Amino acid sequence: MPGRRDSILILDFGSQYTQLIARRVRELQVFCTIAPSATPAAQVAQLRPTGVILSGGPDSVYRHGAPQADPGLFHLGVPVLGICYGMQLMARQLGGEVEGGGQREYGPARLKVGGRSGLLARLGDEEPVWMSHGDRLTREPEGFQVTGSTGSVERAVIEDGRRRLYGIQFHPEVHHTPNGSALLRTFLFDICGARGDWTMASFLEEAVGRVRRQVGGGRVLCGLSGGVDSSVAALLIHRAVGDRLVPLFVDNGLLRQGEADEVMAAFTGRYGLQVRKVDAGDLFLERLAGVTDPEDKRKAVGETFIRVFEEQARRLQADGEITHLAQGTLYPDVIESAGAGGPSAVIKTHHNVGGLPARMQLELVEPLRELFKDEVRALGRALGLAEEFVGRHPFPGPGLAVRVLGEVTREGLDLLRRADACFLGALRRAGLYDEVAQAFVVLLPVRSVGVMGDARSYEQVVALRAVTTQDYMTADWARLPGDLLAAVANDIVNTVPGINRVVYDITSKPPGTIEWE
Ligand code: XMP
Repeated sequence: MPGRRDSILILDFGSQYTQLIARRVRELQVFCTIAPSATPAAQVAQLRPTGVILSGGPDSVYRHGAPQADPGLFHLGVPVLGICYGMQLMARQLGGEVEGGGQREYGPARLKVGGRSGLLARLGDEEPVWMSHGDRLTREPEGFQVTGSTGSVERAVIEDGRRRLYGIQFHPEVHHTPNGSALLRTFLFDICGARGDWTMASFLEEAVGRVRRQVGGGRVLCGLSGGVDSSVAALLIHRAVGDRLVPLFVDNGLLRQGEADEVMAAFTGRYGLQVRKVDAGDLFLERLAGVTDPEDKRKAVGETFIRVFEEQARRLQADGEITHLAQGTLYPDVIESAGAGGPSAVIKTHHNVGGLPARMQLELVEPLRELFKDEVRALGRALGLAEEFVGRHPFPGPGLAVRVLGEVTREGLDLLRRADACFLGALRRAGLYDEVAQAFVVLLPVRSVGVMGDARSYEQVVALRAVTTQDYMTADWARLPGDLLAAVANDIVNTVPGINRVVYDITSKPPGTIEWE
């Protein structure tokens, strides 16, 4: 094992880009964490960070009540890089002056590099950068020199190489600053002396050790759904504690065609896990009978899942001493709950087993809580998880229950599964599955007239939905080729009796959502 791992601490002043800074740092293979802006210097010192980055933020540093940093931070001897608000705050707290009220500058600018700069060593004489700020620095603190400016901002970069304190007015983390990574690289490697050895292989080794120490001789219950997070968590814990991992797969009867069998075959066969499967499809259908409101359907599925899971957990606990519960919490959940002042181990009730650990006195095992989604995928690859699982589109917890609009019936699910298999099969064959973020079919509760051969038909309609998105908060409809859509429509109408019309959803999000319910 290498020595103590390098770690950059990012203090969050509320910028929409804070998580992006973290991702950029990690792309350069340096581990980093995000903490609230007010973290006391003594606490920072205890963490022994390799360097500190102060994020941007929407506030004005001179406004009463604006978030401050502990001034002790600048005397720890740890390199600090302030970005935008972070730069202004550092400058002000060290005796510089910031002026507000001027015009807000938002957009591209050209940075002119001047003077002897440590921070800009890897940049050219003139660089495109992205600005987003209202206030500006009018006087730099003593000991600092100005090493970069733009047409409208004289003090765009300031540095005190002796104390290793640096400030930049622009945003190196966004892709509109093409050489932003080069600047971060200089800060991380040349200024902070980070090694850049944080890889998924090293993370895996560490994480396996951590899980082993935490679990000791206990046994870990893990809900396995076939989604990326639960699959990666299960494989990792299995590597750590072997068959003292007890994976539980609840088949709720709301999965896609063949999915339950594929998950079982892969995890029991290829990956050698002793997965227990519970067939609870009938129970879920019973609970969904007569329910038509989308939120009520979600609730019915969620509550039934918890009931089934708890019952199984109790049985397993009775005969084998389950001590821990695995949870696929990711880093964005941890940051969000910490930011809101709540406990850091919040359980996502909408698709996880809320309340179970406390009631059953199980300790949580959360091996992914330091990772972003794309890092979980990389970790999955490092664990040998097949691409069909690593690259799988997200699938909602309530499953097909929110894609059979209105009441969920066995017949409706059956029609939807067949139509959905036609669409996804065609996408895969055309090599387009990975080009879209999510694709699925929705069964609409309407009938329309058609003509089949010589006869009039009066049957159901399905909608195809395919979207492109980075974060699922906003999304655009995928411009799939017309020929492909035509072939899918033809295939569905000809091979799925009961469906005589196919439409394509061209609504973006917002105003639409990705799912229809
Ligand atoms: P919407 O429809 O809100 O979906 O645009 C955004 C993303 O979230 C997924 N989704 C869910 N996931 N439980 C989940 O686990 C749910 O109740 C749920 N509803 C939507 C959706 O598939 C998309 O990826």
